[in-house]
Amino acid sequence: MEVKEGKASIETKEGVFYNPNMRTLRNISVSFLNAASTEIGSLLDCTSATGIRGIRYALECKAKGVVMLDMNESAYDISVGNAGRNGIGAKVLHTSIQEFANTTKAKFDAIDLDPFGTPAPYIFDLMKISKDGTLLMVTATDTAVLCGAHAKACMRIYGAKPMHNELCHEAGLRILIGYIVRDAAQFNFGIEPLLAISDMHYIRVFLRLKKGANSAAESVGKIGFASACSKCHSFSYSVGFVPVIEMRCDFCGSEMVFSGPLWLGKLHDKGVVKRMLSDDGLDRHGFELLERVYQELDLPFFYVVPKITKYLGIGGVPFEKIIRNLGVEASRTHFSAEAIKTSAGIEEVVNAVKKASAKGLL
Ligand SMILES: C[S@@+](CC[C@H](N)C(=O)[O-])C[C@H]1O[C@@H](n2cnc3c(N)ncnc32)[C@H](O)[C@@H]1O
Ligand SMILES: [Zn+2]
Repeated sequence: MEVKEGKASIETKEGVFYNPNMRTLRNISVSFLNAASTEIGSLLDCTSATGIRGIRYALECKAKGVVMLDMNESAYDISVGNAGRNGIGAKVLHTSIQEFANTTKAKFDAIDLDPFGTPAPYIFDLMKISKDGTLLMVTATDTAVLCGAHAKACMRIYGAKPMHNELCHEAGLRILIGYIVRDAAQFNFGIEPLLAISDMHYIRVFLRLKKGANSAAESVGKIGFASACSKCHSFSYSVGFVPVIEMRCDFCGSEMVFSGPLWLGKLHDKGVVKRMLSDDGLDRHGFELLERVYQELDLPFFYVVPKITKYLGIGGVPFEKIIRNLGVEASRTHFSAEAIKTSAGIEEVVNAVKKASAKGLL
């Protein structure tokens, strides 16, 4: 079957992965590369399937030196055909990430990793073909693992304890970044996240690698632990490899659940996101997602308003009123349509919610 996406026209066939629902994320990825870099001299699409990403990066980001690889033979065949059909001079290889990374001398300006499920087993090898400034784009679709439905699998694969509550998607994303930081640090790379999103069934991080032992140490220094109260929905976090965790909630005295190690640094470069927002190649869903990202405060975690109102036993409260009442920085977040990110603590949030409640306490 022939499919048109962006400037590409590709052939798909049974047995080779192509998910039309991921078009939004591919549009975002194209937009990201254009916003984050003026020139891509070499790019690796290391899970190419039909070749759609490598081809779109070549056509729409003017990426040069495109290499596409896939260990599946049918994927390789169709990628060769699709590269030719779109007139891009990509190198297409039938090999695995591991084999390629351990035999080539190439180092790439940009790498896209989009595997089935977890990306964890490939990060270490990708560091061998990275350099200072490499833009790394990583998808995880094992959200049930990262977000706590399978906590044991998360500890086994990512070496981290997930959350399984309203904060689970952000915690999962931060666990993935923490994992990348630890692998990157072994190669003396630090990381700078430029965009990190959780949407539908996937998590995707876009980051820049920074060479140097100091950069690596700086990134490792932003890993820590978080805890959350399942009764009043307060949370806390602290950086460091020795967990400093509140086991009892300061506010209501209930037991806290904890998670980590996870990344507690920034998730986005708002300059990059702003440039992306002026890209007319984004579809409506992608644009709205990025607009939310652009507006959100870049602080760990958030308060879900209906959870707080339920705890307080009061009815619905308008967001804007709560944000105004808080009197400190506060915003909505792309992680949840019903939540607020703020530097305020639970006590101030509870007071702001009570004050904003139209009917007051029941
Ligand atoms: C989710 S699909 C990629 C989809 C594609 N990026 C897109 O946007 O349509 C994952 C692909 O990775 C390939 N793959 C899985 N493990 C691999 C490995 N270790 N090395 C290379 N390719 C691998 C699979 O054969 C499959 O084609
Ligand atoms: Zn509490």
